[in-house]
Amino acid sequence: MSITITDSRLIAGFSRLGKQEKLEIIAGLLNDPAKKEALLRSFFHEDATLQRKFDEFSENTISNFYFPYGIAPNFLINGQVYMVPMVIEESSVVAAASKSAKFWSEHGGFHAEIVNNLKVGQVHFIWKGSRDVLYGIFPELRSSLLQSTRHLTANMERRGGGIRDVELVDMTAEMPHYYQLKATFDTVDSMGANFINSCLEEFARTLPEFLSGEGERESPDCQVIMSILSNYSPDCRVRCWVEAPLEAFAGMDDRLGAKGFVEKFMRAARIAEIDIHRAATHNKGIFNGIDAVALATGNDFRAIEAGGHAWASREGKYRSLTHAELNGDQFRYTLELPMALGTVGGLTRLHPLADLSLELLGDPGAEELMMIAAAVGLANNFSALRSLVTKGIQLGHMKMHLLNILNHYDATDEEKVAAVEHFKTNKVSFSAVSSYLASYRALK
Ligand code: MEV
Repeated sequence: MSITITDSRLIAGFSRLGKQEKLEIIAGLLNDPAKKEALLRSFFHEDATLQRKFDEFSENTISNFYFPYGIAPNFLINGQVYMVPMVIEESSVVAAASKSAKFWSEHGGFHAEIVNNLKVGQVHFIWKGSRDVLYGIFPELRSSLLQSTRHLTANMERRGGGIRDVELVDMTAEMPHYYQLKATFDTVDSMGANFINSCLEEFARTLPEFLSGEGERESPDCQVIMSILSNYSPDCRVRCWVEAPLEAFAGMDDRLGAKGFVEKFMRAARIAEIDIHRAATHNKGIFNGIDAVALATGNDFRAIEAGGHAWASREGKYRSLTHAELNGDQFRYTLELPMALGTVGGLTRLHPLADLSLELLGDPGAEELMMIAAAVGLANNFSALRSLVTKGIQLGHMKMHLLNILNHYDATDEEKVAAVEHFKTNKVSFSAVSSYLASYRALK
């Protein structure tokens, strides 16, 4: 059956149009096109060279989309103090990270270590020949694969990285004739996606040639399905923890007391290990912090999330990424997850604010940045659980959200000052702010 597309909004060759033409077309789809075009233009950077750079980060760009750039101060991590840049649109996340950072700076700070820093890439292929033959020739094949990537690896090897191993994995129990080349890479301070994918595509060219055995490009028994890095890199992992004696928690909640608070906190942490619904929300709170640091430093937060959630499911059940323990009267709370971050390459140095973020953090290598991001993730999660088991999340969250609500009602500076004062002692909600503003305006 053939389908005739009649929607007049289908546009052929949009990508080939100039930015101004794209802008006009899109504004033309909206109410009051001239106003919408002006709005989109108002977000252009005044420096045309810089604007061009932003345009070229992605495709079909017609404007910039602003996100707040905030700082969580006083992060004490492995004895060093960091002012951590966070890019996030959600109110109360930076405040929560900062509150935790302050608390833990008075209790030994965050401790962190790198478990390992190796990434994974795979060539997925079909081999219809003999399994034994494949395994028999694999040592020689492996050398050919490594040889074929020499031109790509030389630079990385000079920096201390490169391909660490190539394994042959038999996946035929899952799908007939399915095998993998599973390679591990050390990409030092770069996230390494381009390096890994280039090496894998070179493997994918060499593999069928080698298996044809006659210098042919294709072996009739071998079909490469695809070659791509894996965003699940359990051997590129960071562990971060905080610990303190029970008495440190004395001020957390008057009714619970220190022991009561820690017991309740540990139950909450345990619930996130055993219940998938809670685990997803618990982990989301961790990624509030990690993603904000990833964005501020020009890193790929989707890759980090994908790897983190895969790690959370490694035992066949999705669980939280944290674990709480009480040894005697010593409380310890740990976060562990894979995290592929870079401090060179990609956007990390190309985006001026990502570059500035890295400078602010003392120009860390990838491993140090992994530890910083993990500490922020743990800080956000600690703050969330602290609120959840004591006064609830909404009180603090809505207080932080107050300015957004006031902006929604176009409050003036004077109204904002009065409202902030009023809501110091009153519960914030959309309707409470709306009625407060109505009565304040009626009195004016
Ligand atoms: C909100 O962005 C994050 C929280 O829901 C996390 C949590 O519940 O642990 C507060």
